[in-house]
Amino acid sequence: MIHTCILYVSRYGTTRDIVQALAQVLGPTRASPVAGFAPAARACEFVVIGTPIIREVPDPHATRFMEENRDWLAEHKIALRWKPLPTLPAHC
Ligand SMILES: Cc1cc2nc3c(=O)[nH]c(=O)nc-3n(C[C@H](O)[C@H](O)[C@H](O)COP(=O)(O)O)c2cc1C
Repeated sequence: MIHTCILYVSRYGTTRDIVQALAQVLGPTRASPVAGFAPAARACEFVVIGTPIIREVPDPHATRFMEENRDWLAEHKIALRWKPLPTLPAHC
């Protein structure tokens, strides 16, 4: 059985690159964009959600996915990973 499902949104590729790296170390993993998530792919124990932050909140496609799959997600341990902008040095 697939141990981990990674569902992600990526506009420019950064989140996708991080997801692909995570998939290398998390054991049996299935990664797919939220738009391509099929109900048949729900069999996993652990869920990782990857999303860019857009205007200080998760990408709306990720938020919608979480709302639409609330019941399924509630049954799992979940990691939500986001990619913030780097913190600027204090002198900037
Ligand atoms: C229109 C826009 C708004 C953004 N707003 C934020 C923000 O509020 N906070 C933040 O930390 N990053 C923000 N970012 C940066 C993205 O979260 C970051 O570049 C992310 O890695 C993009 O992921 P992707 O390459 O998978 O699409 C913004 C990027 C864009 C294009």
